[in-house]
Amino acid sequence: MKNQQELTLDEKISQSIKVIKRSTKLKPKIGIILGSGLGDFADSLEMCDSIDAQAIPYYPHSSVMGHKGRMIFGKIGKIQVLAFQGRVHFYETGNLETILYPIRVAHALGIEKLILTNAAGGVNKEFTPGDLMLIVDQINLTFENPLAGNVVPLRNQPLYDTEFQNIIKKVAEKNNIKIQTGVYCGLKGPSYETASEVKMIRQLGADAVGMSTVNEASLAFHLGMRIAGFSCITNLSTGILDQKLSHVEVTEVANKVKHTFSKLVTEVILAIGN
Ligand code: HPA
Repeated sequence: MKNQQELTLDEKISQSIKVIKRSTKLKPKIGIILGSGLGDFADSLEMCDSIDAQAIPYYPHSSVMGHKGRMIFGKIGKIQVLAFQGRVHFYETGNLETILYPIRVAHALGIEKLILTNAAGGVNKEFTPGDLMLIVDQINLTFENPLAGNVVPLRNQPLYDTEFQNIIKKVAEKNNIKIQTGVYCGLKGPSYETASEVKMIRQLGADAVGMSTVNEASLAFHLGMRIAGFSCITNLSTGILDQKLSHVEVTEVANKVKHTFSKLVTEVILAIGN
């Protein structure tokens, strides 16, 4: 038997998949990654099989508060869903592959549509903490690229599926849920941005800023998945509002909007999940 270092990434993934498939009979085609404080959505799924991240070989697990680290297979009506409760952030390991691993697992499990969610700071002055923002595009300021290693530059297309965006806007309107739309900027973290960085990020064209999502979206898209994204605006970024920011505040606000978030995501899955 090979030792851990000798295994290729594909071999590690297939070992992870073997354990996951032993734990569930469901074969969802839609997945959702739940960001900071947004993990409770998974509790609304029916007929769940839940697998702790720690029980899956090679699967990264998080130490951040508000991130439970589980894969939950369940149903909304007839639609099978895979929910990733909690994600590992780049700043926890400094290793891009750990944050990409769940995306590779999702792909290997047959996920074709992926909803990425996160907690983010608002850099658009029109935003209020508690707003939900549909991500229409992204700016990757992590200075990483999960696609490095490809010999030819890849064709550029909208990462966030425009048909999904149109459906989501209609779903939100029909259910009386106010959503913002905007561009998400992803940084490495773990420090929150300085006032000057926030000013720069706004000038670059972003509406929200956070520490995840951009590399996951980029890889998922290039693996062929159709992507939708939501930010829960938990705070206004430094300098936009003169107030200190902590992770506790981020999870508190996410907590307050979790019912609206769950309702929106449930309706979105019903609309795009088939
Ligand atoms: N900046 C970066 N990440 C975040 C923020 C923020 O203001 N709020 C929640 N996640």
